[in-house]
Amino acid sequence: MTPDIIPLVAGNWKMNGARDQLDQLALMSQGLDDDLADAVDVVVCPPTTLLYVATTLSEDTPLQVGAQDCHNEQSGAHTGDISAEMIKDCLADYCIVGHSERRTDHGESDYHVAGKAQACWRAGLTAIICIGETEAEYDAGMAQAVLKRQILSSVPEGATEDDTIVAYEPVWAIGTGKTPSPEDIRDIHAFIRETLAEKLGGHGERMRILYGGSVKPANAAELMSILNVDGALVGGASLKAEDFLAICEIYRDM
Ligand code: 13P
Repeated sequence: MTPDIIPLVAGNWKMNGARDQLDQLALMSQGLDDDLADAVDVVVCPPTTLLYVATTLSEDTPLQVGAQDCHNEQSGAHTGDISAEMIKDCLADYCIVGHSERRTDHGESDYHVAGKAQACWRAGLTAIICIGETEAEYDAGMAQAVLKRQILSSVPEGATEDDTIVAYEPVWAIGTGKTPSPEDIRDIHAFIRETLAEKLGGHGERMRILYGGSVKPANAAELMSILNVDGALVGGASLKAEDFLAICEIYRDM
């Protein structure tokens, strides 16, 4: 954690969840009592098909909702794409951009990701910008160089702690059950903090840096105790209300 920064736990459902998954979302919103909501910001990012019903279900509860991607333009001839304005129109407040699965599956570059982050700001959404090295880059000792390039090129100038969150997700830790050692995470998050501060000044010092990659109730406390880990971006464990709330409760109790 970073002193004076309220942690944020975001659940990324990826391409999982039909309407029957909304029961879990309802349980999550019911499980967020005032104590928890005061101590931790909690966001769920369901697939786009469930976005509007998710915001409706969580209305008047502390549970916040986000999308998983957006186009950089406001509207136009882009079949199958969704604009940040459409996400805002669904009453969501956050949008993940630059997830490694988008970078790999859809060839998104840092340039694309920066454009999407700016689209989020234009629509009044908070951008959750994902960065992270592949296993080959990690093994080659290139993690910091890759992260620096991603921060310099994917996080637009002018980003502040109010409109942007950075999520460090080592690609090799996603869905694999593997996580970097606590020492590695401490060093990498310190490096990300330093790079953000160099680029954005005080805003970089106050920006939330989430860790993502195989976060679950069993490892959340250890991850959370690391300096500059200001929350989690949770994949698989965010699909079940019990596990997701357990992670949020660990953040509340620290
Ligand atoms: P897992 O928690 O399933 O490893 O996924 C992490 C992730 O990619 C969240 O965006």
